Amino acid sequence: MNVLITGSAGRIGREVATILLDRGERVIGFDVVRSRIEHPNFSGVEGSLSDPNAIAKAFQGVDTVLHIGALMTWKAEEQDLLFESNVNGTVNLLSATTANAVERFLFASSGEVYPDRNPNYLPIDENHPQNPSSPYGLTKLLGEQAVRYHERSKGLKATILRFSHTQNASELLDANSFFSGSRFYLHAKIRQQRGFGNDALADLLESYDTGDNQLVVSRNSDGRPHRIGISDTRDTVSGILCALDSEAAIGETFNLAPPMATSFDEAIALLQSKTGLGIVDINIPGPDLYYETDYRKAQDLLGYKPEWTFERMVEDAASSL
Ligand SMILES: NC(=O)c1ccc[n+]([C@@H]2O[C@H](COP(=O)([O-])OP(=O)(O)OC[C@H]3O[C@@H](n4cnc5c(N)ncnc54)[C@H](O)[C@@H]3O)[C@@H](O)[C@H]2O)c1
Repeated sequence: MNVLITGSAGRIGREVATILLDRGERVIGFDVVRSRIEHPNFSGVEGSLSDPNAIAKAFQGVDTVLHIGALMTWKAEEQDLLFESNVNGTVNLLSATTANAVERFLFASSGEVYPDRNPNYLPIDENHPQNPSSPYGLTKLLGEQAVRYHERSKGLKATILRFSHTQNASELLDANSFFSGSRFYLHAKIRQQRGFGNDALADLLESYDTGDNQLVVSRNSDGRPHRIGISDTRDTVSGILCALDSEAAIGETFNLAPPMATSFDEAIALLQSKTGLGIVDINIPGPDLYYETDYRKAQDLLGYKPEWTFERMVEDAASSL
């Protein structure tokens, strides 16, 4: 295979590239930042998805495109860049893919297309109505539509993969990491909400601050702990590879989720056992965050078998400190 991977400098793209290279495939990485992958079968192109000329340089003998690159931001001031990267960027990449007569295309979408707050039913399967509640989720839904349009009109053989929240295990014990910091640690959570301009929530969080960093059990307004699916990067990558290797994936959409969702009270108890930090329980106003994602379609059609529970991820993170 000659695989073009966008987002090859990122958490997921880099790992997929490394495994494909180990398997003997040729990989071209495309990212705005340097991919830092050293391998004789790897070549990197630095450029933005919003630049069709840069994209054109990456199509050298490509037969498969894994579109994993995207901007993940929830900041209002980055909204234009978000749509430029994730919507226009996806359309640019699809145009180049069909212009180069490349048929196979995998698209990294997200569970935020459903959305995850106040879902219509649980567990969330692929037929759940798509009503994104964040601009980021909207960019992923528009990306999905662009993929399906190119499938209908240009004969693309496309697969859409809706990832759950995905992170490297080591991020769980890093109080300043991109996802886990603001999800589980009070100081990063305060900084995030101030940054979003959510001053009422930032003030509420600050009222619990004693100076020392603490772990936060975020709860819904009725006191029920938040519950979401958090995948280990290794499981998400294994799902991408299952889809890449399967004819049954063509034309389909799959959820890739962890073995089970994580309740934040249990998550925080595990993080507390490794960090020794104090714990605060906070009821967060607003829509409920409580869901489980159904990945049986990927399991049945692709043989996807997620292995990393939250507990295993925490143990793994602690063992590499
Ligand atoms: N990590 C998650 O929780 C999660 C959940 C659902 C979906 N996803 C999707 O999975 C994909 C990979 O996620 P990740 O966790 O590896 O993210 P990441 O931020 O680690 O990697 C994304 C990569 O895309 C690159 N990129 C961003 N904008 C670009 C542009 N305009 N042109 C070229 N490259 C650009 C970034 O430089 C980065 O290296 C993304 O499409 C993301 O939306 C991630």
